[in-house]
Amino acid sequence: MDRVLNIAHRGASSLAPENTLSAARKGLEVGADMWELDVQLTADGELIVIHDSTLKRTSNVEDAFPHRRPWQVNEFTLDEIGKLDFGSWFIKQDPFGQIAAGVVTEEEIKSYVGEPAPTLKQALLFTRKHNWFVNLEIKDLSNKPGNNLIVDRVIALVEKLNMVDMVLVSSFNHKYLAQIAASYPHVVTGVLHTKPHARPASLLRRLGALTYHPRKTFIRLGDIAGLKRQGFQVHIRTINDRKTMERLVRAGVSGIFTDFPQVLTSVITTYGKVKA
Ligand code: G3P
Ligand code: CA
Repeated sequence: MDRVLNIAHRGASSLAPENTLSAARKGLEVGADMWELDVQLTADGELIVIHDSTLKRTSNVEDAFPHRRPWQVNEFTLDEIGKLDFGSWFIKQDPFGQIAAGVVTEEEIKSYVGEPAPTLKQALLFTRKHNWFVNLEIKDLSNKPGNNLIVDRVIALVEKLNMVDMVLVSSFNHKYLAQIAASYPHVVTGVLHTKPHARPASLLRRLGALTYHPRKTFIRLGDIAGLKRQGFQVHIRTINDRKTMERLVRAGVSGIFTDFPQVLTSVITTYGKVKA
């Protein structure tokens, strides 16, 4: 019997600014088994943890660099990104309504002002320090500088920090996953896909991947057991309501990505273990 994995999407992003160490800290605090983050490259080739291809939504870049529209991550150096505030937007926008609901404390809110975007190294060191796990999603850099470099750079860093056993690498770019299977077969990978796939087991086998990360609508719940019997794991993304979490836990999913790991913790406690 395996326990369903509680995966804090972009950290506990309902409680703290996404893809920051504060979000990771909250995920850990509320009982997530691992956190998920997004990694891409800066203009000077550094690995940075940011979701969007631009800095606009999650930082004060428009005020800090008004003449650098459209504020592409890969057009800013690490030093420039280091000057930005990735926390205040969360306080202003309260994207999941958890500040208004009184779930985020005054002290936490104050601490988010000026929050930096972590480098991948900082994110990995945080994970290792807490003996935790992380899903590194390598953003698809097709047609962008660094497309051919990002996989080698990510894996080199994971290996240098001796963290292969703490890391699951995923991507929508299946060439990256094939590259990992060919060059780094000891690294565990997960497949992201933008639409339903008719034969996910074949896809996973072809890419040498262990885990499948579909949206709930991409997979029939009855197909989960078959994939698991073939040795794969199914982590569903991104589920924020309790009822759906309950249904998925009962259906025997291997893991759930959520912005609300605090809710999933209580669902897992209630519904216990899932069938292997
Ligand atoms: O890995 C699950 C999820 O993170 C993929 O989509 O856009 O939220 O990074 P996105
Ligand atoms: Ca992601």
